[in-house]
Amino acid sequence: MKVKKGKASKIGPSKKPLKHNAPKIFKTKKQKGKKRSKKSSQAPVVKSVVPVEASGRVNEILSHIHQLKPVRPVAQAAAAPSQLLRPVPVPGGGTTAAEEAARRAAGLPAPSGPRGRRGRQVTQMATRSRRPPLAARRNGRKMKLAKRKLRREELLAAAETPEAKLESARFRYLNEQLYTRTGFEALKMFSRDRESFDAYHQGFRNQVAKWPVNPLDLIIKNVNKMPPSHLVVDLGCGDARLATSVRQRVLSYDLVATNERVTACDMAHLPLEDGAANVAVLCLALMGTNLVDFVMETNRILKMGGQLRIAEVASRFDSVDDFVKSLQAYGFHFISQDLSHKYFYMFSLKKVANVDRKRRKELPEITLKPCLYKRR
Ligand SMILES: C[S@@+](CC[C@H](N)C(=O)[O-])C[C@H]1O[C@@H](n2cnc3c(N)ncnc32)[C@H](O)[C@@H]1O
Repeated sequence: MKVKKGKASKIGPSKKPLKHNAPKIFKTKKQKGKKRSKKSSQAPVVKSVVPVEASGRVNEILSHIHQLKPVRPVAQAAAAPSQLLRPVPVPGGGTTAAEEAARRAAGLPAPSGPRGRRGRQVTQMATRSRRPPLAARRNGRKMKLAKRKLRREELLAAAETPEAKLESARFRYLNEQLYTRTGFEALKMFSRDRESFDAYHQGFRNQVAKWPVNPLDLIIKNVNKMPPSHLVVDLGCGDARLATSVRQRVLSYDLVATNERVTACDMAHLPLEDGAANVAVLCLALMGTNLVDFVMETNRILKMGGQLRIAEVASRFDSVDDFVKSLQAYGFHFISQDLSHKYFYMFSLKKVANVDRKRRKELPEITLKPCLYKRR
């Protein structure tokens, strides 16, 4: 059947022209009236191809092609609106081994769909909004939690190996020795067995790696704000990371010199002149039973007005106020404290008086509980 000229405009609500298999191109009334621009003088874009001669029911056919709009795939188009918001797995796929394990741990149903190039589940998001649908987000969260749980279990399993157990037991033993001996005794212990010092430090690093914040990083930030001409003294420095992270000159002291920056000594007897330093740092280093000796020595080597920064494990404090008060008795003025961190507290003080060693017996004790790590 032939379609009469002019009828095409009545077929659908679209005002765009159609191009058919047949070379005939229909124009709308509006187009006919319009003066042709350079662009519109080109052949119209093919949006839909309908064999006009193929059927006598041309009106019906053309009304099914959605007025020249792109058509959704049949499966999606047939789905209910709520289904359109869910990811549609493409048949024949799977997941990576880790995802599969996490999925099972989260109790989620098995997916079906092909793997992408990285072996991940391939899904088509038949969604109108960019945000994944609620169910997908819930599943995502469940997967994340399950993955985290698996990772924890893996770490625990690694810690269960005989070697790891032995290492951990050794660290706990050495740590306990440091908290229950004087600095001098600790110095003797580690000078006899240097290797155990390395074992202690490896264990310490493993512990602090589990903390959300390392107090040394906060001290580094703080010291970097001070004048570059300041002389900084790091007491119980470990591997002397402070010295390599700030712009000032830093003298680093510890029981064992693990590198060329560190001077081995007991911090109760520092090889420094009176009033030599502008800043003293005690980061998790108040470990021996003779804390008073460490604090008095720190007072001695600091200039008047010199700064003291202390970070200590939170669980060691019975009373923060008592700790601060006792430091005040040793010539330090309290500036500020930060008790906001889960695992450690921080204190800023300033030297305001020299302490006479002969008056030692009149001064209060400084006590902190030993920090003993539990067996896991
Ligand atoms: C827990 S580590 C902290 C290391 C470093 N400040 C940090 O935050 O990474 C404590 C350090 O203090 C040292 N230390 C403990 N008592 C000491 C003493 N009497 N004299 C010198 N260093 C001491 C230990 O050897 C250890 O390296």
